Amino acid sequence: MLLGTQRINAQGHLAIGGCDTVELARQYGTPLYVMDEADIRQKCRALRAAYEKRYPNSLMLFATKSFMNLAICRIMDEEGMGLDLSSGGEAYTALKAGFPMERTYLHGNNKSMWELTLAVESGVGRIVLDNEREMDLLQAVAAERGLVQDVLLRVTPGIKPQTHSFIQTGQIDTKFGLGISTGYAIKGLATAKGLPNLNIVGLHCHIGSNIMGLDSFEMAARMMIRFAAQVRDELDITISELDLGGGVGVRYMEDDQPPSPEDYAEAVITGLHDEIEKYRLPHPRLLQEPGRAIVGEAGTTLYTIGTIKDVPGIRRYVSVDGGMSDNPRPTLYDAKYSALAANRASAPLTQKVTVAGKHCECDNLIFDVQLPEVEPGDILAVQTTGAYNYTMASNYNRFTRPAVVLVHEGTAEVIVERETLDDLLSHDRLPERLQPSVTA
Ligand SMILES: Cc1ncc(COP(=O)(O)O)c(C=O)c1O
Repeated sequence: MLLGTQRINAQGHLAIGGCDTVELARQYGTPLYVMDEADIRQKCRALRAAYEKRYPNSLMLFATKSFMNLAICRIMDEEGMGLDLSSGGEAYTALKAGFPMERTYLHGNNKSMWELTLAVESGVGRIVLDNEREMDLLQAVAAERGLVQDVLLRVTPGIKPQTHSFIQTGQIDTKFGLGISTGYAIKGLATAKGLPNLNIVGLHCHIGSNIMGLDSFEMAARMMIRFAAQVRDELDITISELDLGGGVGVRYMEDDQPPSPEDYAEAVITGLHDEIEKYRLPHPRLLQEPGRAIVGEAGTTLYTIGTIKDVPGIRRYVSVDGGMSDNPRPTLYDAKYSALAANRASAPLTQKVTVAGKHCECDNLIFDVQLPEVEPGDILAVQTTGAYNYTMASNYNRFTRPAVVLVHEGTAEVIVERETLDDLLSHDRLPERLQPSVTA
């Protein structure tokens, strides 16, 4: 499976964005996250075009939790995207990247006072409220500054999409948002309506992540419009924005079949139009906030193969120089990945192996992947690691987090430096009484 600009070059090496990955590994070291800029831009353009063609009053947001740093903010700005920010740290990064804050939406299920303050003071476009406590906090922040803040309310439509249970978020039993069927959502809106420094402009939902079927997205769109009608009837509030979240799946494995941007837009907008007509509502501005669908397939992690160990009759472990610290998803949700030997990309696939990480955990990255004959020193490329790998990376076992390079038309540029061993110590403090004795 070759994704985005991935090709096999004349040397039989995997190339991405016109850069030889074996050369990238040599130059920047491994593990290394490689991001394919052309693929990221193409995904933004395809999603925007599919939506804007069918529904001109729409805005595509990029969910920065999937991949966040200064460079991606600049790319998203250039592509005319908005940002779905899920924390004060993400908001701060967007601000420092010079991103137009009016195109940002701040999410989160437990926003702190400092996060709300930062968001309001930096001119964030909308705050997506999750609960009534946040309403009180935001009312205080906005009132103190003499502002009226535009807000959406996150609601849970009661939909359980087909995906891993840890990334289902639209069902009633969730920490996110207020339930429609429990009556909490309408009650929350009534509360917000009574707060003078909050201006309710819309509703938000996000039903889950890495969803391959379109039914749940269409159903969510329909349910949200029905709820918008209830809100109009019971509270006399016009829903002028509807944010239907993210969640579209991507290709991790050869036989994964994520929906195309066209099919995705068609399903959502058909559902939306039907219900809008039925309930005689004005057409709200429509937002979607994909993360994985924009950056997932654009990312590849390069590792150097080290120990190769056989458990006779059971499996062969091929260990790499990273693991759960740079990709916790297999350990967290049993996520599946594809890989190829970057320096033997055209060699015949002769063996089935398990790719193991090097942490003090059973951090197997991939079970049963077909590889050619490999040896220590070879470069392994794990595909579709652009979303929720770099942003979920940790320093577990005091591993330094890898660098991120952006590749484009034969050029590679570092957009996040590799951490150093001294970076690991930079936040440690040693109290005087624990200093090593200077006397021998
Ligand atoms: C509120 C919200 N919006 C958008 C997203 C992005 O989801 P995905 O990367 O699957 O598109 C998430 C992911 O968890 C989310 O929680």
